[in-house]
Amino acid sequence: VSERTPEWLVADLLRVEELITQTAGDRAHPLVRDPALHLIGAGGKRLRPALALIASRAGEPGRRETDLAAAALELVHLASLYHDDVLDDTQVRRGAPTVHEKWGTDIAILVGDYLFACGCGLGADAGGEVPGILARAIADVCQGQIVETSTLNDPRRSVADYEDTIRAKTATLFKAAGELGATTAGASEPHRAALRAYGESLGLAFQIVDDLLDLVGDPDITGKEPGTDLKEGVFTLPVLLACERDPDLVELLSSGERGLDAVLPHLKDSGAIDTALDRAREFAGGAKRCLEELPDGDYRITLATVVDGALAQLD
Ligand code: IPE
Ligand code: IPE
Ligand code: MG
Ligand code: MG
Repeated sequence: VSERTPEWLVADLLRVEELITQTAGDRAHPLVRDPALHLIGAGGKRLRPALALIASRAGEPGRRETDLAAAALELVHLASLYHDDVLDDTQVRRGAPTVHEKWGTDIAILVGDYLFACGCGLGADAGGEVPGILARAIADVCQGQIVETSTLNDPRRSVADYEDTIRAKTATLFKAAGELGATTAGASEPHRAALRAYGESLGLAFQIVDDLLDLVGDPDITGKEPGTDLKEGVFTLPVLLACERDPDLVELLSSGERGLDAVLPHLKDSGAIDTALDRAREFAGGAKRCLEELPDGDYRITLATVVDGALAQLD
């Protein structure tokens, strides 16, 4: 939410925020409550629920099912962050200490599971196609994360492999957001397909930008520790492109170097940072083109603004 967020979306997001907090907190055991609410209170962009809410304007907005699906998406996303931070061994997220830092790994894993289940409960309350879309999206995200672990520390990992992985681990939830917004609002099948394609392309652009931010971002703005991907051996698009162009970098990484200071000059000098940004722009353009197939309305401008906002994180 920024000062440019339309009033209707601010109101929609407030309702959904209430649902998220109630669902994660109200029935929670006292031991679960604090870790379950920790990241919700720390911040976050609420991008996936926002997308579902905006997408619903291609049909009949304001239905309870849309709110439930939007809140479910954020809870599922949150759960994936709890687990991701254990896997990536990170100390900060949303500018706050990570859950495993504060409460230990066991709690982070189990409360992550709890949040997954809370999200699925909301999906079941929404009914219709929502639980199925949500469950299949979760399965795809898990598969993306699992495949990624098999590519760690490989400087010869292909760009195609990278894109397949981010399509699964990240773009899936954005695609589901577009689809859930559309279905819960009773949008037509072609409009639903356009929103699904929009979400997927946006998600791909978004993860490339996130991967660039891990290399060149300001931690005060991202709320995350720079250089985490490298440290964990996750070689993202800029690194892979640079490796294709610069044998010295392949050698450096093969020798076990994982420091940002040592690697970053290779990424800049080879032009890999710029090429990765171009690729993000291509996906962003693809997302915007999908909007042409949607019914008229201001929400289309909002969907385009979200795409611009994803790229603007790098400004
Ligand atoms: C972080 O997602 C995980 C990625 C897919 C890169 P966000 O950048 O949307 O995280 P929050 O929700 O704003 O914290
Ligand atoms: C993981 O990607 C995205 C998920 C599906 C959780 P990242 O590892 O890049 O996410 P951040 O940077 O930790 O938010
Ligand atoms: Mg991570
Ligand atoms: Mg990242």
